[in-house]
Amino acid sequence: MGVVRKDRSPTLGLTIGLVITLAAVVLYSAYTGRQITALRALQNDLIDRDRKDSLELLRIQNDLNSLALAMRDMLANDEPYPLAAWSSQFQRIRTDLDDALSTEEQVSPHDRAVEQRQYLSTSLAQFWDAVERMFAMARAGKEQEARAQIRMSLQARQAALSTAVARLLVQNNESEEEATVRIARIYDRVERQVYGFLGATLIAILITGMYVIRSNRVLFVRVAALSRQRSDLARELISTQESTLRYLSRELHDEFGQVLTAIGSMLARANKRLPDSDLRVELQEVRDIAQNTLEKVRTLSQALHPVMLEEAGLEHTLEWYLPTFERQTGIKIRYEKAPIPIDGNGAIHIYRVLQEALNNVARHSGATEAWVRVRSLPQEWRFEVEDHGSGFRPQTDKQGMGVVAMRERAELLGGTLQFLKPSEGGTLVRLSVPRGAA
Ligand SMILES: Nc1ncnc2c1ncn2[C@@H]1O[C@H](COP(=O)(O)OP(=O)(O)OP(=O)(O)O)[C@@H](O)[C@H]1O
Ligand SMILES: [Mg+2]
Repeated sequence: MGVVRKDRSPTLGLTIGLVITLAAVVLYSAYTGRQITALRALQNDLIDRDRKDSLELLRIQNDLNSLALAMRDMLANDEPYPLAAWSSQFQRIRTDLDDALSTEEQVSPHDRAVEQRQYLSTSLAQFWDAVERMFAMARAGKEQEARAQIRMSLQARQAALSTAVARLLVQNNESEEEATVRIARIYDRVERQVYGFLGATLIAILITGMYVIRSNRVLFVRVAALSRQRSDLARELISTQESTLRYLSRELHDEFGQVLTAIGSMLARANKRLPDSDLRVELQEVRDIAQNTLEKVRTLSQALHPVMLEEAGLEHTLEWYLPTFERQTGIKIRYEKAPIPIDGNGAIHIYRVLQEALNNVARHSGATEAWVRVRSLPQEWRFEVEDHGSGFRPQTDKQGMGVVAMRERAELLGGTLQFLKPSEGGTLVRLSVPRGAA
């Protein structure tokens, strides 16, 4: 791990992958939507309209045929009726034809040429004019002339109309076929492009997914390595701290303690040899100072590393420490004790965890009372420090080392550390150490 590498966050890559995937989906949806709208327009506007129009054209065609038949019968010589008798039939056909024509005009395809429409209506109008003229002649008794009119003008006009309508029908058919081909082509194109889009989206999802998996794996490995390093470092720190404190404590106790004890006893001897004088009083004062300093040195030595832990065990050390803590902080401690046969490193870790928990009560909880419980359970030893103060709110901006060190010590003990919330509020720190682990 010699090279310090500038880490690149995978967020940018992931965001790009996500944006590409989303963009592909949005584009694909918009495109499909547009194609469907186009298809619907084609179907509605062209094919449906064409069909309706063709139906009306067939109706017109039918009417024209009826007219043709009627005119053929009028010309046939075996008809017993005068020509004017046909007038009402012509009228009926005319009404139906007008109706069909106006409906046809409404549904006729947009692309129908204006000239075609005009041609049809003008021709029809001319045809009816000729019909009326023919009936007028018939009613005036000019039967022969009327027949000649039918033969020479009306039949030709009817045939021309019929041809025009037939042409329109053919046109409708052609445009319907054309629309069907266009629709089939759109379907083909959409199908091809849908597969293209799907493929591209799948590839984008696959690449993004693989990138996520890869960067997750890399991150996980690095986090695990960092966590191991941090843990090793914390353990190293804790053990260095303990050995330094133990060394200082011993030095204070043994070296300074012995020197001060020696000074004290030398002063005592000197005192005895001196005759009564002011000097004796002064010597006594110096002796008192030496004695006081000796006590302070011993207290400091205990505070740095309770030698008591090794000599008298955790239980006695706590019995000494808790009243000291009470005196120093003014926090009332309620102690529930139990025998704990733990010594050595285990004892110092437990002692430090309880010490830090109590220091935190004093510094952060605002409580005036705390409970320290030691329990000997079948599976584990349990150590608890409870307060009913402000409650545990880990700060994100300023990270203390206390809780971190507590956790590391719990791990060194093979146990667990929990921060719980008692029903009365405040904080309950629980250290559980499995029997046999410490
Ligand atoms: N008993 C408690 N009541 C309320 N808050 C607490 C208690 N114990 C810990 N905390 C919160 O947890 C935070 C972290 O505690 P920690 O012991 O890690 O840091 P610290 O006490 O601020 O600094 P130090 O490194 O000196 O211990 C504290 O800042 C405090 O906000
Ligand atoms: Mg702390």
